[in-house]
Amino acid sequence: MRGIKIVGTGVGLPSQIVTNFDLARRVDTSDEWITDRTGIRERRIAEPGVATSDLCAEAVRAACADASLAPDSLDGLIVATSTTDTLFPSTACWVQRKVGIKGMPAFDVSAGCSGFLYGLELATALITSGTMRRVAVVGGEVMSRVVNWDDRGTCVLFGDGAGAAIVTASDGSSGLLASNCGADGSLAPILYQPAGGSQMPATHETVDAHAHTVHMEGNTVFKHAVVAMSTAAVQAMRDAEVGPEDVTLMVPHQANMRIMEAARERCGIERDKMYSVLHKYGNMSAATIPVALHEARTEGRIKDGDIIVSTAFGTGFTWAASVLRW
Ligand SMILES: CC(C)(COP(=O)(O)OP(=O)(O)OC[C@H]1O[C@@H](n2cnc3c(N)ncnc32)[C@H](O)[C@@H]1OP(=O)(O)O)[C@@H](O)C(=O)NCCC(=O)NCCS
Repeated sequence: MRGIKIVGTGVGLPSQIVTNFDLARRVDTSDEWITDRTGIRERRIAEPGVATSDLCAEAVRAACADASLAPDSLDGLIVATSTTDTLFPSTACWVQRKVGIKGMPAFDVSAGCSGFLYGLELATALITSGTMRRVAVVGGEVMSRVVNWDDRGTCVLFGDGAGAAIVTASDGSSGLLASNCGADGSLAPILYQPAGGSQMPATHETVDAHAHTVHMEGNTVFKHAVVAMSTAAVQAMRDAEVGPEDVTLMVPHQANMRIMEAARERCGIERDKMYSVLHKYGNMSAATIPVALHEARTEGRIKDGDIIVSTAFGTGFTWAASVLRW
């Protein structure tokens, strides 16, 4: 076990709720289709002018308050996001500016929906090596800015939000029992935002072609997600010598209830041990796991000593799983 402890969590969620019924007025879809195929009923959408860093800053402030820690006493700030404020500098630097802190290293992790668990892995390495003592790991997205609102195949899936966790060294009772992260870049074009980077810089034509929005082969993503999330979680549980019966709560990446259920079943974990916030927030990419962890803690579903299994899959393709003793 690598000794770390999550001593505080917090979220930044837009107040605007967009329901499936709202979307059905915009594109050819229905509440029934979205609920049946995904499990999503509504999602939060950021107001114009609200950037990823605004939601992340709110989450960091809340998590620091929860941990009774002044934000300027953080030794590191890691932001996992695919919807960066700007191509440069990092969203983490914009978060520093908005929280009013400086000095500590601040950087982004680009691993799509697996980003929060990648960040947790990094924070654990930095803390257990003695390099840092207190690290904020944040997952935040404003997916609504990169969605084609005329494409019913993607626009119904995503939502905006941020979640943060303050990670410190453990007193010995808690820690990361096992984890694994991986990627397969050969599958990058299956789920990506084609334009806006060095491959395809922004032009009038790229804007006209909606090339700055999510392009996804939904079925292919679905199949890979189930296999990668369950394989990564089963491996992490095996490495942690944790059986399905030992697991207190499974908090997977929340993209589609059918993906989450299939992954849970393959892990052999009972249905009532899976925690979901998908129905109310949709797929917030890197933010889904920290937001779900925060809500589970707030509801008293996670207590000291509990075994928490998380697993994720995202653009890249990337995947990651962790087994935590809280
Ligand atoms: C996108 C997703 C929900 C589609 O569900 P699906 O059961 O695979 O549905 P299909 O893509 O096979 O489409 C079935 C039909 O529904 C239609 N459809 C797609 N979106 C629709 C919508 N919002 N409303 C109504 N119909 C829709 C399709 O056009 C298709 O119609 P057709 O049979 O006439 O061609 C599913 O593939 C998925 O969740 N994939 C993973 C996406 C994801 O999680 N991405 C992020 C990864 S972290």
